Amino acid sequence: MRAAREYGDIACLRFFHIRTFLIFHPDLIEDVLVNNARKFIKGRVLRANRHLFGNGLLTSEGDFWLRQRRMMQPAFHRSRIANYAATMTGGATALLESWKPGEPVDLHDAMMRLTLQVVGKTLFSADVERDAPQVGASLHVLLEFTADFRRLIMIPNWLPTPQNLRAKAAVRELTGIIDRIIQERRRSGKDTGDLLSMLIHAQDDDGSRMTTQQLRDEALTLFLAGHETTASTLSWTWWLLAQHPAVEEKLHAELDSVLNGRVPTLDDLPRLSYTNCILSESMRLYPPAWAIARMAIDDHELAGYPVPKGTGIAAVPWVVHRDPRWYENPEQFLPERWEGDLLKKIPRFAYFPFSFGARQCIGNAFALMEANLVLATIAQQYRFRLVNGHSVAPLASITLRPRQGLHVVPEPHRARGSHASSR
Ligand code: HEM
Repeated sequence: MRAAREYGDIACLRFFHIRTFLIFHPDLIEDVLVNNARKFIKGRVLRANRHLFGNGLLTSEGDFWLRQRRMMQPAFHRSRIANYAATMTGGATALLESWKPGEPVDLHDAMMRLTLQVVGKTLFSADVERDAPQVGASLHVLLEFTADFRRLIMIPNWLPTPQNLRAKAAVRELTGIIDRIIQERRRSGKDTGDLLSMLIHAQDDDGSRMTTQQLRDEALTLFLAGHETTASTLSWTWWLLAQHPAVEEKLHAELDSVLNGRVPTLDDLPRLSYTNCILSESMRLYPPAWAIARMAIDDHELAGYPVPKGTGIAAVPWVVHRDPRWYENPEQFLPERWEGDLLKKIPRFAYFPFSFGARQCIGNAFALMEANLVLATIAQQYRFRLVNGHSVAPLASITLRPRQGLHVVPEPHRARGSHASSR
């Protein structure tokens, strides 16, 4: 924010010999992410962590990435992911039943467990259930590892530091479990309709399929990319709601009138428009992918500045989403701003929580469906008050999450069990 204030739409940071341009104007974002996307690859931090993600969709490049993306895209089509709605609301309902009014919970931790369970079930059906504790523990190690941005940049991954060794052991454990599930699935030939089945059966134009190694890398990537981001979106949303009782009240009124205590289904979502506005506004202020990084592989020019090959670029949703040229009262949480046709009035590239261009999020529709369904299911029964003295601040690692979790006290919003009969 300071760089944007002092330098305008483009600023350059130098970190030893590495130069990185920060870009803050929608035209520059379109230039890098869309018009000249071929001149850029993913940024240094993600690339340095390919030993964790493998060569999955998030980190792969070029023709290999394009082939994988084409094979995987149909699995994320709206009609395919529609089947996952019940898994999402089922997980949220189970969570509700585990809470006791007045007893404090770490809501960020709860959202992480919920979204992990959802991605686990939708990827692997029930196959991962018996391994859930190990999967959860290993993913936790990896997320802690990637949370320390400075270490990711400064410490080479071949150094046998305790953190590097722990991260490697976690990857070994996860890949062991995923390989075993893939082998069992291949042996049985079962098509369970989950993401893994779709990936196993996906074919390239020439009829070829993914190798076990590719399947494993993609599965691991979806595990990692597919849960923390959605969990953080929900956590920031609960935190914002806790501070804005009028918004909370309007949300409850919408849920009561549309659902009347029922667990929401996919068909309800078009009528839950205020719920969706709340999520759009939450991702404006707290975009889980707060910076989208690239590295130039060709010389380029941006706003008149030379961008030599090897230069880093960061498109920064955090800053663009708070620019008063596009958003009135940008620091305020105002879901109503999304009620009209704001997206038509602002430049297209002034709102990009899921990025743009060929590398935009493949899980966009999945994430929005999950966030809307979970928010609607839980907010029907509970509102949350921050635990006294607990301060919430963002930690900007690869994703943006609450640094010390989100410690809240659940308060019932409607009489418990009033929805049970209509389930
Ligand atoms: C609110 C939740 C989410 C947000 C804000 C989000 C955001 C993003 C962003 C900004 C990118 C582009 C990164 C870049 O260009 O460097 C991305 C890519 C990706 N996301 Fe998401 N994501 C979310 C949820 C999900 C979910 C639920 C899944 C899978 C189930 C997923 C899977 C992926 C994958 C595989 C990529 C790489 C796509 C490619 O390069 O072809 N994401 N996400």
